[in-house]
Amino acid sequence: MGTPSNRPRFALILPAAGSGQRLGESIPKPYLSVAGRTILEHTLQPFVDTGALVHVVIPTEKNYIQTAKQCVASSFPALSFDVIQGGKERQYSIEKGLDAMKNAGIDAQWVAVHDAVRPFITVDEIQRCLDAAVQFGAAIVAVPAKDTIKMVDIDADHQTVAHRIEDTPPRAQCWQAQTPQIFDSSLLKQAYENARELSIVGTDDASLVEALDRDVYVVEGRRENFKITYPIDLTLTRWLLEGEEK
Ligand code: C5P
Repeated sequence: MGTPSNRPRFALILPAAGSGQRLGESIPKPYLSVAGRTILEHTLQPFVDTGALVHVVIPTEKNYIQTAKQCVASSFPALSFDVIQGGKERQYSIEKGLDAMKNAGIDAQWVAVHDAVRPFITVDEIQRCLDAAVQFGAAIVAVPAKDTIKMVDIDADHQTVAHRIEDTPPRAQCWQAQTPQIFDSSLLKQAYENARELSIVGTDDASLVEALDRDVYVVEGRRENFKITYPIDLTLTRWLLEGEEK
């Protein structure tokens, strides 16, 4: 990583349009307030702190577009940003984010995608991921799997009490993908075009680049960069962020 002036600059898509069903809260996760700020603002802060962020697009649920605009404008008055309506799946939210960037005339060479509900990402992780993306074209933050991973037969009748194991990949080779995931922007656009043409729906951006037969690299992150998904994750988030305040 170079000095701040010659450091590669990047644009960010921060998907925030999830329903939050698994969390069981009435307000969508990115807009829950913890330690005096929304989770969205906590998540965005380290990206702004890199000093290399040129623009951010936030796909979100229609009823929260104004809320998102107010949060970002009040916390980051100097930041160039756009809030748009997200899609039905995460992948469609990001696809819309890429379109919005094109329409706004943003042509950053590097595009990062980061879940709005991973507030514990650090400047160091973002920078190491960006360095790897600059070197290899595509890089993601990930952690080695702690548990042994089982591939199971999900076509089995879901009424049964158990699923048959089909395979056990060697644990040393299994990593859990997190975000950010950072790509050369033309490669990411190509991956999304290909996914649309072939009707591929992936659960992360790297898998769409992999579908082009292009290499993606992992850089080791931290388990603290979890995605707020279940009530226990929110309890832990409050404990970590509100504890920091005391
Ligand atoms: O649903 P999942 O936990 O994978 O969501 C990861 C991120 O993607 C969250 O920040 C969520 O708000 C966002 N998302 C989105 N559009 C969707 C579904 C999820 O922007 N349709």
